[in-house]
Amino acid sequence: MTLPTTTPSRPAPGPVEQGDPAGDARSFRRALGQFATGVTVVATSYEGEVVGMAANSFSAVSLDPPLVLWSIRKESSRCGAFSESGHFSVNVLADDQMDVSSLFGRPQPGQFDQAEWSPGTHGDPLVAGAIAQFECVTHDVLDGGDHVVLVGRVERFARFEGAPLLFAQGQYGVFETHPGLEAGPSAAPGTRYVDSEDSLFMSLLRAADHHMSALFQGHRQEVGVTVATGRILNRLARGPASLDVLEDDSYLGENAAEDAIAELAAQGHVVEEPGVGWTLTTSGAELRRTLRASAEQFTADQLRGIPRRDLEAAERVLSALLGRGTRSEDYS
Ligand SMILES: Cc1cc2nc3c(=O)[nH]c(=O)nc-3n(C[C@H](O)[C@H](O)[C@H](O)COP(=O)(O)O)c2cc1C
Repeated sequence: MTLPTTTPSRPAPGPVEQGDPAGDARSFRRALGQFATGVTVVATSYEGEVVGMAANSFSAVSLDPPLVLWSIRKESSRCGAFSESGHFSVNVLADDQMDVSSLFGRPQPGQFDQAEWSPGTHGDPLVAGAIAQFECVTHDVLDGGDHVVLVGRVERFARFEGAPLLFAQGQYGVFETHPGLEAGPSAAPGTRYVDSEDSLFMSLLRAADHHMSALFQGHRQEVGVTVATGRILNRLARGPASLDVLEDDSYLGENAAEDAIAELAAQGHVVEEPGVGWTLTTSGAELRRTLRASAEQFTADQLRGIPRRDLEAAERVLSALLGRGTRSEDYS
C-alpha cells in the first residue's frame, strides 16, 4: 500500500531573513528558534526558599563524568540563587505539561504552591509528571555573554514513561515519529510505504494529519500570517489583553508573542491602549475575518468531491476516537 507524499513542495529557496545578529536581534532569535528543544523546569533551594523557571537551553554535555548544562539570563531575578546555591534539579516536562511551563515561564510569587513537587536530596524541587529528573551539583558557572552557563554534575536521575513537550519557532509542540521513516525500500519517490506493524487505519490517520498540517502551513504562508500572528489575532478578537495574558492564552513563548505583536502593530492591525492593553484595530478585525474565511475556504477546497455522508461519518469516527459527543460503541 502506498500513500501520496505528505510533503508539499517547499517555498522557493533563499533565506527569509539574514544578516548580522548585532543589527537585528529579533531575526537572530527567530533563526535560533529553528532549533527544536525540549522544555525543562530547573529549580533550586536557596536560603530556605525554592525557586524555579522554565528553561529550554538545557543540553546533555558528557556521560563520564555525567554533565549537563543550561543557561540563565544575567538579568533574571533568579540568577543569583542558581549561581550560588551549588546545586539544582532539572525536570524534563511531558507533553501534557504546557501549563507547568507557562507557570514557570515568568516570575510570579508562589509558583511552587501551584505545582506538585517533592524535594530531592539537596532540597531542590522534583516536579511531578516530568518524564525525567536530574539532581545536579554545580560543576561550573561560566560567563556566557548576557547569560550565565550553569554546568551540573548529575548525582541522581530518574526516567518516567511519557512523551516530551517540545519547543520550536517560539511555540510548543509534540513529538511524532517522522512519516518518512515509514518509507520502505521499495517505495517509489514521492510515496510512503505503510509500515506492516501499523494498522492501515492508524497509518492513514497519521499520514492524513501530517499531509493536511503541511498543506495548511503553506496556505497560511500564502495569506501572510504566521502561527503566532494568527493566534494573537484570534485572542484579541475576544477582547483586549496585556502582553503577559497574550503569552499565556496563546501558548507562545515570550519572545514569539512579543515579536508577533510588534509585527501586527507595525502593520497597523493592533494598538496598545493605556490602561486597557493590546486591542485589534478596524484593519486587525478585518484581517481576522479574512483569515477565518480563507481557512474555511481552504478546508472546503480540500474536502471538495467527498460525499457529504462520508464526511459526516468521518466526523463521527474522529469525535468518537476523541471521546467527544458520539458514542464509541456505535463504531465497534
Ligand atoms: C519554554 C521556555 C523556555 C525558557 N528558557 C529559558 C532559558 O533557557 N534561560 C532563561 O534564562 N530563561 C528562559 N525562559 C524564561 C524564564 O523562564 C523566565 O525568564 C523566568 O521564569 C522569569 O523569571 P526572571 O524574571 O526571574 O528571569 C524560558 C521560558 C519559556 C516559556
